[in-house]
Amino acid sequence: MDYEAVMKLALERGFYFPSCEVYADAQAGFWEYGPSGVSLKNKFLELWRRELVRRDGMLEIDGAQIMSKSVFEASGHLSNFADPIIKCTKCNSTFRADRVIADVAQIEIPESADLDEFDNAISQNNIKCPKCKGDFEKTKKFNMMFRVGIGPEGEEAYLRPETCQSIFVDFPRLYKTMRGRLPLGIAQVGKSFRNEISPRQSLLRLREFYQAEIEIFCNPSRLDEVEKFAEIQDTIIRVQTDSEPVAMTCKEAVESGTVPNKLVAYYLGILTEFYEKTGIDISKSRFRKLGDKEKAFYAKVAFDFEVETTIGWLELVACNYRSDYDLSGHARTSKEKFDVMDNDEKVLPHIFEISMGIDRSLYAILEHSLKDDKEHERIVLSLKPYLSPIHVGILSLVKKDGLKEKTDEIFLNIKRKFDAFLDHSGAIGRRYRRLDEVGAPFAITVDHQTLEDNTVTIRERDSMKQTRINISEIDSILSESVAFP
Ligand code: GLY
Repeated sequence: MDYEAVMKLALERGFYFPSCEVYADAQAGFWEYGPSGVSLKNKFLELWRRELVRRDGMLEIDGAQIMSKSVFEASGHLSNFADPIIKCTKCNSTFRADRVIADVAQIEIPESADLDEFDNAISQNNIKCPKCKGDFEKTKKFNMMFRVGIGPEGEEAYLRPETCQSIFVDFPRLYKTMRGRLPLGIAQVGKSFRNEISPRQSLLRLREFYQAEIEIFCNPSRLDEVEKFAEIQDTIIRVQTDSEPVAMTCKEAVESGTVPNKLVAYYLGILTEFYEKTGIDISKSRFRKLGDKEKAFYAKVAFDFEVETTIGWLELVACNYRSDYDLSGHARTSKEKFDVMDNDEKVLPHIFEISMGIDRSLYAILEHSLKDDKEHERIVLSLKPYLSPIHVGILSLVKKDGLKEKTDEIFLNIKRKFDAFLDHSGAIGRRYRRLDEVGAPFAITVDHQTLEDNTVTIRERDSMKQTRINISEIDSILSESVAFP
């Protein structure tokens, strides 16, 4: 189903909604997760930890969101982290130059292109202000970091624009205290902040958003010495270096030189396996190799993991080979040591990063899982059972004759172990439909027969099949069905 259908579901079923929506001065680009969204996000992150962090023996940290100015001097964000903007000379509205040019003239110019390229495209295509048809001033750079003032003197600091900076700054301490060895993965989940000029499409371009970032610290002379490569060498990844994605095994990707080394291919492989388990249709994915003008300023080689949706290809993960850009910058600025011993060799590690956008990933999962079951006149969110916000609905057929009490008893017995939703009211068909929409894989219904023989019906979301089971079987059936793979 499409973006509008996901939006309707998100608003009506508690996945996400605009922040501060009761106020007229609510700002664009800030969204809240409701209970269904939080539950989905938590489960998504548990899967991420299982499939990437724990699988690879990584360390996880939780750093501060406000960081000192020096960090962003060293990282290059103060001088480079900027979008091209244009201002109308008549109505003073400001826009992102690349967006206006793409919308009006269908010309794609990478956001990091030279400013002249935007000015030329605007004059050659006679592009005017979309609001008032006025002329534009020359294109300027706008730094996207949010500046904050610390304490009464308002000392300059910034909300982090990417979670990974604390991973870089903390690396020497972590390597020492956690007895690290290269290659070492360090992960972090948290919020990042970017002052986007045109936030749009709900979770897809936010000013405050969630990232799950992994930074792999490695010895640049040993990028093809990856012990675990055999685990993923036959995993199929879809890589696009030209006009179309090509499916190949990780081994073929390295041997053909499509992916530069085994270390990068290993992580593209395990990332693909992770997304496959989220329910995203991998045949609609690609690792797109970015050209020089598209790459972030710190990246030497970059592959974006993108997924096809009804609104086009969506970047979910940036996979950047950042070389020693970050550690040498922090070493220079802080005057601290960032090099470490790898066996007998002293190295300044290089970094390969897997920078995941959580909000966009959740959107893509929702879109790929949402089905219009016309035959049964229902909308079904066919999430993987382990990602479903609600594992099971517990329903009484009617409230009277002791059915309510029996239903409450079943609910009480399982609610600490499973995400269960108790529902006594409304037509049973409508209650099933609501559970289908929120992605609950099961509904258990208590009826008059339950009081006689201790059995209930269990209905499966996708097949709508109903089976009679004993109450004593509920725990084992649910445990098996909603367990992570
Ligand atoms: N750390 C890379 C990014 O935020 O895109």
